[in-house]
Amino acid sequence: MEKDPALSIDSLTKKFPAAAEYLIEIFVINRDYGMVKNSVIAKRLGVSKPAVTQAMNRLRKYGLIEQDLYGSINFTPFGRVIASRLLKRHYLLEHLLISKLDYDWIKADIEASRLQSSISADFTKFLFDTLGRPDTCPHGNPFPDSERESEIINAPRLSAAALGERLILVRITEEGETAPGLLEFCYKYGLKPGNGIEILLIKESSIMVRLKDGSVLEIPSVFAQYICSSLE
Ligand SMILES: [Fe+2]
Repeated sequence: MEKDPALSIDSLTKKFPAAAEYLIEIFVINRDYGMVKNSVIAKRLGVSKPAVTQAMNRLRKYGLIEQDLYGSINFTPFGRVIASRLLKRHYLLEHLLISKLDYDWIKADIEASRLQSSISADFTKFLFDTLGRPDTCPHGNPFPDSERESEIINAPRLSAAALGERLILVRITEEGETAPGLLEFCYKYGLKPGNGIEILLIKESSIMVRLKDGSVLEIPSVFAQYICSSLE
């Protein structure tokens, strides 16, 4: 079906309230891993596969995605624009909640997901300017089409770090933001973008690192796979 050229984020989310969540999920899976399948979306959002199938049919009907014979999902150019705008809103809301309202670093992602469909384009622009035109979310994930986007996305995962490396933390992936216990762990031990660590020991189930205050921390491998860093 042809896209509806008059379809705005407002009218889309009125007709299909969960659209924003699905579009953002497709965007971030595609950006991190390339291929997007219904089963991955179902797992990430904690919904059933039939629910995702139904949602993808609706997104396709609105001209936002295409799905090939093997089930891979791709944005239409129009869908990519809408998804990028929604993700920018999400990141700006996280900034507003954390840096201006001092809201919990751990809960901001959930609250931003609730608000992202509701704010206007005008308020989004106001937030962007007022918050100093940021290029990442507070957890380090880059704004779509920002200058450092591919550099940040390609920053290696901590699980691939080598012994003795001194690293600067770059981001906690969106997948990691929803991994049980990960944001709490990072917050507790100061594993935030911009902070430095040194790799002391690599084991199968964990990585021992020295933090900037000199203390030693054991990071479970299940968490290290979602934390990205670059060489100091
Ligand atoms: Fe974030």
